[in-house]
Amino acid sequence: MIIDGKTELYGIIGNPVRHSLSPAMHNAAFAVMGMNWVYVPMEVTDIKSGMTGLKGLGFKGVSVTVPHKATVIPFLDEIDPVAEQIGAVNTLLFRPNHAGEIICRGFNTDWLGANTALAEQIKLQSSSVLIIGAGGAAKAVGFGLVQAGADVFICNRTAEKGEALAQWLGCSFLSMDAVNTFDADVLINTTSVGMEPDFEGIVVPPECLNQFSVVMDIVYAPLQTRLLREAALVGCATIDGLSMLLYQGAAQFKIWTGGTPPQLIMRSALEEELRIRRGNL
Ligand code: ATR
Repeated sequence: MIIDGKTELYGIIGNPVRHSLSPAMHNAAFAVMGMNWVYVPMEVTDIKSGMTGLKGLGFKGVSVTVPHKATVIPFLDEIDPVAEQIGAVNTLLFRPNHAGEIICRGFNTDWLGANTALAEQIKLQSSSVLIIGAGGAAKAVGFGLVQAGADVFICNRTAEKGEALAQWLGCSFLSMDAVNTFDADVLINTTSVGMEPDFEGIVVPPECLNQFSVVMDIVYAPLQTRLLREAALVGCATIDGLSMLLYQGAAQFKIWTGGTPPQLIMRSALEEELRIRRGNL
């Protein structure tokens, strides 16, 4: 990679951000497309000064991760209606308006990432989908699936939080116990259960996995979580956590370039980065 006076700046803001796989994914995409662009991780504590800095330094596009997905919204000039509805932004686009002023517009591609990954395995319209968890990831995933016409159910350890999300989505809430006797086409884990070093963690009892056809995990470290391993053993189709990350990133690439993202290269870069990190453990 050659960085010179014409290099365009992209990156990711979050806190912490050093664990992010997005730099590996986007830099690989920029390189293979022959773009003189670079994507850097930036740990931002104060979102207001962070946003002023990005504009002042001439950044063209930025990813936004925890804890800034909602707090960034007051500092945008424009927001995509879907991101506004979800109340979370994971993508920024900086462009000049007709008067030459730099305008920052916020988007949400997380929901698109989940929908694209799932649509490779199952028709979303009318499919029943059980989502475990009620945090930001569950909200974006649930929103996308409701939009696609799926029949969504929310299940969460803390009933109050789960019920609130279910109400917002206009769908039903299930207690964790109810999962044992609940059949659905798809099960999605949006919690951190099973993330390293909790290699044996599994968010639902393995005995109930044969009640689903497709099982998706948003955890990507390890790539083969216990949930996915047990699901594959009973014949479910499985979708790993890199898929949602890849497709939300591919949608960001489209927003920034208007072009087709090199998805195979992006996926390989993500897998390679995970391998390097495992080697460094
Ligand atoms: P994010 O915004 O990244 O989705 P979050 O807001 O911290 O993350 O949400 C994490 C979700 O995972 C929550 O719904 C949490 O359940 P609670 O609402 O009961 O806290 C769920 N979660 C985390 N650890 C869990 C565990 N060990 N078992 C079950 N659910 C868990």
